[in-house]
Amino acid sequence: MNKTWWKEAVIYQIYPRSFMDSNGDGIGDLKGITSRLDYLKYLGIDVIWLSPVYKSPNDDNGYDISDYQDIMDEFGTMEDFDEMLAAAHERGIRIVMDLVVNHTSDEHRWFVESRKSTDNEYRDYYIWREGKDAQTPPNNWGSCFSGSAWQYDEETSMYYLHLFSKKQPDLNWDNPKVRKEVFDMMTWWCDKGIDGFRMDVISMISKTKEMPDGEVTDLYGDFSPYCIHGPNVHKYLQEMNEKVLSKYDIMTVGETAGVTIEQAKQYAGEDTHELNMVFQFEHVERNGSGKYGKWTNEQLPLTVLKKTMSRWQTELYGKAWNSLFWDNHDQPRAVSNFGDDRPQYREASAKMLATCLHMQQGTPYIYQGEELGMTNYPFQSPEEFRDIESINAYKEWCSDGVVSHEDFWPCIIFKSRDNARTPVQWDDSWQAGFTAGTPWIAVNPNYKEINAKAETADPNSVFHYYKKLIELRKKNPIMVYGKYDLMLEDSEELFVYTRTLDEEKLLVVCSFCDHETSFTVPDEFVGAPCLISNMENAYGKAEMTLKPYEAFVLKR
Ligand code: GLC
Ligand code: CA
Repeated sequence: MNKTWWKEAVIYQIYPRSFMDSNGDGIGDLKGITSRLDYLKYLGIDVIWLSPVYKSPNDDNGYDISDYQDIMDEFGTMEDFDEMLAAAHERGIRIVMDLVVNHTSDEHRWFVESRKSTDNEYRDYYIWREGKDAQTPPNNWGSCFSGSAWQYDEETSMYYLHLFSKKQPDLNWDNPKVRKEVFDMMTWWCDKGIDGFRMDVISMISKTKEMPDGEVTDLYGDFSPYCIHGPNVHKYLQEMNEKVLSKYDIMTVGETAGVTIEQAKQYAGEDTHELNMVFQFEHVERNGSGKYGKWTNEQLPLTVLKKTMSRWQTELYGKAWNSLFWDNHDQPRAVSNFGDDRPQYREASAKMLATCLHMQQGTPYIYQGEELGMTNYPFQSPEEFRDIESINAYKEWCSDGVVSHEDFWPCIIFKSRDNARTPVQWDDSWQAGFTAGTPWIAVNPNYKEINAKAETADPNSVFHYYKKLIELRKKNPIMVYGKYDLMLEDSEELFVYTRTLDEEKLLVVCSFCDHETSFTVPDEFVGAPCLISNMENAYGKAEMTLKPYEAFVLKR
């Protein structure tokens, strides 16, 4: 297995709108990020994944880009960006940009031109089709953000495809001019000195030419067999690699929802010349198996979670590289989703989850606030949502009468992306120290107890636990390169595995339950020193009683 810096790195994701506001307008910004780089340096992370900061009308908070070579007004200027990049580099922190090129904003000049006539030079930059008839779209596909995936446009009496909102028209990657525009733009950013790209829904850029109706799974037809992992996706990524990526020492991670392990080996293979790693969702998503599409508040049984994670661990080993994460800006908060956010268990379970993840193979991602053990938000009413996906879903499922509010509410507040988007809790002052004004989305009321000031001051905090895990990674190549083996696969209480590298071996034991449980340490680890733990216990003894959410790692 090749050794590379991005396999050894720990990545921290910043969602700029909610990270730190420098000028009191209630919206996080670039100067705010620059002001907190010392905090990130202290935590010890190597790379920042910056969610989009490009010019955008903000229909989907920056994932709808109207100019790829300019900065969003609310976030600052290109000078602020350059300053932030230089300040990060001075501290040895790299910056990876979010690359959103499956679609643009409908306010991008390419689309403004494209919709004007059927014969203009930008028409083929997007995907236009005739409707089945005047009132019926070309097929039954539903968009990820509710409603049809097709929008009728009066100007030319045709429909354009948008897998996300109608303000996010899909680019036509089959057009070589589109690919050239994207590659030139990427080159421009690389020449500026950025350190890589996180590629938004990159597994969706190639669509099948035929666009038949999809199987109706919830309210609309499913586009995924025709748009995810389409016929030319590898060809286009190899072209991108040849024309751009291979010329720079950068890292690339592809958001690849819905890909199989076999496919991932191609996207992120050791020698396939596409991307460095995949970011896939099999362990966090109940993939349509939720009560109402993705909307559910059911937790996965631990045996299922372990099985999924372990398959990716063993089947990619030595062949391709994976990302490790519990949450991001699209997911519920890790501790609320996979741990236990009740006050008596929050800290322990947050540390346990961190142990379980950082000891696996892959590059770990920390989503802003995860290192503080931040939790889901206690939503009281739909008016509190800011996220287009949650707003539209509530309307489609609930206001339109498909399900009752009582049934749907617990599901949507558990899964809403807004849970991850409440402001980072910096201290116990006004608005958690995020802004001097009124924040664009409410601060979680638990900020007096959960905040960075308190966490950095307390050596036993979740923050210091993450800091220690990051330090351990630097000193123990086995955490990066060791082979993974699952133990106790049938246990619904314990997640236990080993890592092996040459003569060294780690035993990782994580309790996922809120009661005591017993555990017998395998002979070869009896007496072995403890690398890290979230409790006090007699580590090294053979017969152990584990406390709720206890986690520890032994090394021999
Ligand atoms: C990705 C992003 C998500 C965004 C969507 C459309 O899944 O992570 O936030 O809404 O793509 O760009
Ligand atoms: Ca601001």
